[in-house]
Amino acid sequence: MDVKQVGVVGAGQMGNGIAHVFALAGYDVLMTDVSEDSLSKALAVIERNIERQVSRGKVMPADKRAAMERIKTTLKLADLGQCDLIIEAATERETVKTAIFEDLLPHLKPSTILTSNTSSISITRLASRTDRPEKFMGFHFMNPVPVMQLVELIRGIATDQETWETLHEVVRKLGKTASSSEDFPAFIVNRILMPMINEAVYTLYEGVGSVKSIDESLKLGANHPMGPLELADFIGLDTCLSIMNVLHEGLADTKYRPCPLLTKYVEAGCWAARPSGGFTTTGAKCRYRRGETILRRRIVHDFSAKNQVLLANPSVCSLSQARNPLGLPSHFFSSSAGIGSPITGRWGLKRLRLISYSRRPCRIVSLTLLAIRNAREFWPGK
Ligand SMILES: NC(=O)c1ccc[n+]([C@@H]2O[C@H](COP(=O)([O-])OP(=O)(O)OC[C@H]3O[C@@H](n4cnc5c(N)ncnc54)[C@H](O)[C@@H]3O)[C@@H](O)[C@H]2O)c1
Repeated sequence: MDVKQVGVVGAGQMGNGIAHVFALAGYDVLMTDVSEDSLSKALAVIERNIERQVSRGKVMPADKRAAMERIKTTLKLADLGQCDLIIEAATERETVKTAIFEDLLPHLKPSTILTSNTSSISITRLASRTDRPEKFMGFHFMNPVPVMQLVELIRGIATDQETWETLHEVVRKLGKTASSSEDFPAFIVNRILMPMINEAVYTLYEGVGSVKSIDESLKLGANHPMGPLELADFIGLDTCLSIMNVLHEGLADTKYRPCPLLTKYVEAGCWAARPSGGFTTTGAKCRYRRGETILRRRIVHDFSAKNQVLLANPSVCSLSQARNPLGLPSHFFSSSAGIGSPITGRWGLKRLRLISYSRRPCRIVSLTLLAIRNAREFWPGK
């Protein structure tokens, strides 16, 4: 099948990269997102990135102009109805993706091929929610799309040979290399990459190394171009967590359990202001990051061997919040102990009063630590 017009759903970091490479390869691109702001930002990013290629002599200025003219944007999903190929690159949540395909279906030509750039979600399951599972495939670009050579092609259980061959031909025209993966959770690249990133977060979480030493170890010791924590931030911690959850649930194996610290960063919104949040970057959304790291390290060093309990005042944080706000393994805690319990060393009574955060007498709770927001209170300025 001859593909001329391509629809891209989602104008985030993957969507704009996909629009960029398709437009440079001569395809007409219609990109959509839920907000005008995302679309205009995406166009600005594409323009900047192609300009960088021009300044490096990789793209001719005339090709840049032609590529930018080939990219159109719309807020209406229905406008993608005449596209020959749809690439869904929206947020990594199955409900979001299935809703997009369901909304698109009534407007599509019968011949339109549907694809998803999902990093992990079952292609067969997504396809089964459409009227054309035989014309549905996983089309997994790597980040950053204009730079990375690989495109993973994932065949759902019903994908037909024509669709498979059409996408191979599209990848060839983009000047990229296709690899084939069967439809299993996270396919090939992320099945291998994400557990490594997750393990790097565990390494941080258990106090084995700092962010810097973990990243440097892999860069200098294993010749990785980026450290795993830096890479996690680059991918987006929300996306990393979603992929780990898909692996964990899909393969029903505890070895894929997402690190609680990763979960907590996502819950804290550290991923939202990408790239200003995360393990390797500081930003408003991540203001507790340093305190948390310092706090964790001290707890691991000072308390794990003694199996001691700290006290938290339930009026400061609820029991559920308080149970394990740092996501420490439960063996770091034991129950019982009072304010005069054998808490010694740097975390003596005075420090304990600080931890309790109020002058009222502490009640014993099963946990132990205050919410991260209080970490700054312990070591102001650190
Ligand atoms: N980030 C990576 O490194 C990477 C690599 C390969 C694949 N992916 C996959 O690509 C997809 C997108 O990831 P991303 O990193 O670009 O995320 P992103 O958060 O940068 O962008 C997602 C975009 O989707 C838009 N969106 C959400 N709901 C939508 C809807 N209903 N209709 C239209 N647009 C909608 C959002 O507004 C946002 O602009 C995910 O499936 C992800 O797993 C990501």
